[in-house]
Amino acid sequence: MDPEKPQPVISAKGLTRIYTLGDSEVIGISQIDLEIAAGELVVLKGDSGSGKSTLLSLLAGLDRPTRGVLTVADHDLNKTSDTELTHFRRQVVGMIFQSFNLLPTLNVLENACLPALLAGKSIAKSRSKAMELLKWLGLDSRTNHLPAQLSGGEMQRTAIARALINDPAIILADEPTGNLDSRNGQIVIDLLAELNRKWGRTIMIATHSALADPKATVKIELKDGMITDHS
Ligand SMILES: Nc1ncnc2c1ncn2[C@@H]1O[C@H](COP(=O)(O)OP(=O)(O)O)[C@@H](O)[C@H]1O
Ligand SMILES: [Mg+2]
Repeated sequence: MDPEKPQPVISAKGLTRIYTLGDSEVIGISQIDLEIAAGELVVLKGDSGSGKSTLLSLLAGLDRPTRGVLTVADHDLNKTSDTELTHFRRQVVGMIFQSFNLLPTLNVLENACLPALLAGKSIAKSRSKAMELLKWLGLDSRTNHLPAQLSGGEMQRTAIARALINDPAIILADEPTGNLDSRNGQIVIDLLAELNRKWGRTIMIATHSALADPKATVKIELKDGMITDHS
């Protein structure tokens, strides 16, 4: 092993996910080979149904591969037990969704704190970390608001705080601007780019929009579950 060369933070070989629906099989992704170094900002493109969400779900440990090898931040996701996978989802990756997925009965601060509390951190520590993030995200005046009282942009920024609270190695964003107007979409992309540039976070954004294109250090295009372009 070359000590100079950093180990990839994402490494996939022959990665395949096939969904079985009764007697028929649907290909989610097929035979994906991929290596992503730490610190990249990957933009994942492809038509609807091309496999972007399937790939992100596998990387996030939300789903398991049908075949192939997948290592993310030194975790072999083919071998992890369910308990390890729960830890992985909570602490190693941070996920952001198109539909925000905030808990409607918890306020902004509580939504942001939740993964830290689930990871066993104290209430005081979780709150102070969440406040720090919410301040950076421009949400310090919104901490007591419920999701229903927020704009889409504010909801997505709350989701970013929640994704960051356990200092994940990787941030995965699935169509993060899909429910936002272009101004708020730009704000979200700029925040993700700042996380990447200033703090060296590895980020993968699946998106239809061109907003993230200028920020990409790696571009991947999927078609019918396969990589057709990697630059
Ligand atoms: N849970 C599922 N069950 C069956 N088929 C699925 C499921 N999720 C995705 N698919 C299929 O897998 C393919 C890739 O879907 P997806 O990863 O959602 O693509 P994208 O995110 O690029 O729109 C599509 O043909 C889709 O219909
Ligand atoms: Mg999708």
